[in-house]
Amino acid sequence: MKIKISHHIALSFAPAFAYIDNRYMTTDASILGIETSCDETAAAVVRGGERVLSNVVSSQIAVHQPYGGVVPELASREHLRAIVPVVRQALHEAGETYESVHAIAVTQGPGLAGALLVGISYAKALAFALAKPVLTVNHLEGHIHAVLLEQRQTANFEMRFPVLALVVSGGHTHLFLAQERGSGWIYENIGRTRDDAAGEAYDKVAKLLGLGYPGGPIIDVLARHGDPQGVRFVASQIKHGNRGVPREKQTAHDFSFSGIKTAVLRYVELNGMRADIAERQKQLAGMARAKAEDVLRLCDRRTLDLVASFQRAVVSDLVRKTLEAAREREARTLFVTGGVAANSELRERFELESAQEGLPVYFPSRKLSTDNAAMIAAAAFPKYLAQHFAEPEFSAEASLILK
Ligand code: KG4
Ligand code: ZN
Repeated sequence: MKIKISHHIALSFAPAFAYIDNRYMTTDASILGIETSCDETAAAVVRGGERVLSNVVSSQIAVHQPYGGVVPELASREHLRAIVPVVRQALHEAGETYESVHAIAVTQGPGLAGALLVGISYAKALAFALAKPVLTVNHLEGHIHAVLLEQRQTANFEMRFPVLALVVSGGHTHLFLAQERGSGWIYENIGRTRDDAAGEAYDKVAKLLGLGYPGGPIIDVLARHGDPQGVRFVASQIKHGNRGVPREKQTAHDFSFSGIKTAVLRYVELNGMRADIAERQKQLAGMARAKAEDVLRLCDRRTLDLVASFQRAVVSDLVRKTLEAAREREARTLFVTGGVAANSELRERFELESAQEGLPVYFPSRKLSTDNAAMIAAAAFPKYLAQHFAEPEFSAEASLILK
């Protein structure tokens, strides 16, 4: 979907580009990144593509918690409220000013159209007022650059290509095969989810079991207390079929996570767990800020086993299919990134199994796994060096493709 921002803004802001010339190009440039694609309002300043001078994330979790998922209208409203103070704080923490940064990078998509528009409109307004260039970034490339950014900080500049990147979050489960091209990377999408994203499955299962929102972090903790063999899911419940999916929409390494969610639902019904879940929800709703220990106390063995078995099934599927794709496409480096990459079991399994295959695997730190703007500023840096500045009339693209 393409949404047009008022032509008035686009046209009046065009002359700003006239001021951009080579005197402003520097390999030590500070880029202000802005990210508003989902439920985090984030701003960061990154210098030279790798030094994170500030990284401010304002989370909307408390706003969406009562609904068990992100409500798009509420997300836009919260971004509007937070964007100015968040950017101001990012500049302040970085010791920079609106005038001192060299360029402004903003997420163009994919994401919620209304949420993206808040960041884009603000980036455009700043660029116009300050006569700075704007760089647009694909959110998924941002997640990939979160890994690259931190590897560069440890002086690891020796990435071997092709790189296979699994981007696994609340909105995406994508496999990209990346190659170097000029100062940037190009991508081939070789796998994606047919239905729910892995993080979405975590969030839906957590909601179903009355564990709160978001589901990933709490299931990560609870799963350690359950038996991952406790509940047996049949392979057909977690496998995808090609039925109903047009050939041109299929990729070689597709995922599917809606079956496992339905299997959890069926288990809940068959085992009469509804009353316990309702009671847990009631108790948690009465707590101001429930901690993981509070939720753990409210879970019986059967629930913990179910949670651990769900996580085992999701993690095994992600690891197996990713390594299969890596073998088939002869990937020489593996990146695992996005919110779900914060998961302990996923990290352990990838580390173990990739090592067995002699494939180096890299993750972002937990802070940079979930949505942030440092990754957006970092991903914009090669574009800045190549002077790939945005056209003034660019707009939000809810389904932007990475290539
Ligand atoms: O990347 P992200 O912040 O936003 C999107 O681009 O979607 O990812 C958020 C998702 C949520 O679904 C959340 O439940 C999941 O990442 N998540 C986790 C963990 N931490 C966050 N999933 C599994 N284990 C975790 N530790
Ligand atoms: Zn994300």
